[in-house]
Amino acid sequence: MNQTFEFTLDGRVIRAERGQSIMQAADGAGVYIPRLCDVEGLEPEGSCRVCTVKVNGRFAAACTQPAEAGAVVESETAEINHHRRMLVQMLFHEGNHLCPICEASGNCELQAMAYRLGIHQPTRFPYLQPVRPMDASHPDIMLDYNRCIRCGRCIRASADVDGKHIFDFVGRGINKQIGIDADYLAETAASLDDLTFSPGLCPVGCILRKGQGFATPIGQRRFDQEPIGSDIERKREEPA
Ligand code: SF4
Ligand code: SF4
Ligand code: FES
Repeated sequence: MNQTFEFTLDGRVIRAERGQSIMQAADGAGVYIPRLCDVEGLEPEGSCRVCTVKVNGRFAAACTQPAEAGAVVESETAEINHHRRMLVQMLFHEGNHLCPICEASGNCELQAMAYRLGIHQPTRFPYLQPVRPMDASHPDIMLDYNRCIRCGRCIRASADVDGKHIFDFVGRGINKQIGIDADYLAETAASLDDLTFSPGLCPVGCILRKGQGFATPIGQRRFDQEPIGSDIERKREEPA
């Protein structure tokens, strides 16, 4: 039985394997679909909706939607990018994001996504300016809940890979936040060896490693070098 098939993404023919999501197939073909909650190595959750595409005219999350033979998928349209911009803007307004003083600046996927989507001045929504604690109790790791975008990557990494279940969501609706299984991080089994605390697992500046600030100077960080998604788009330019 043939395990591969084709569909189109913004008019481009994409070859997919059975069981792949639209995002996985697009990645393989060197076509970047914006995303924030999805990261390689973890099961997709489909929560941020930044990867929203239209499949045969209906909205779907590219990270969880299986690729289908003959499907017509739209991604880089004015309508979809408008929705993506609104989602990203809302994340900026929901938390406390002060990029010029944030250690994650230049390595941050939220910041990089804003640049990629052409957001330079997020003013569409009111700033909620929540008052959230920081947790510096752990000797090696710090949590700044002001930056959390509730992508859930830490929950999945800690539960599914590290087997520690340190993080989970607490609260409901507008009060839903990330929480830990103790009062302070120092009381958990958190370790620098965990995937959860590895660089880049948290897409923003919520999970930070102590003693490493500015080890890579601003201007030389990941997204200072090239826009988010470039690693995937580069595959398109390389000969197969
Ligand atoms: S987490 Fe990212 S978006 Fe938020 S302040 Fe830091 S660099 Fe800016
Ligand atoms: S702490 Fe980081 S990885 Fe965890 S939900 Fe918040 S932004 Fe995502
Ligand atoms: S990356 Fe698909 S919903 Fe977040």
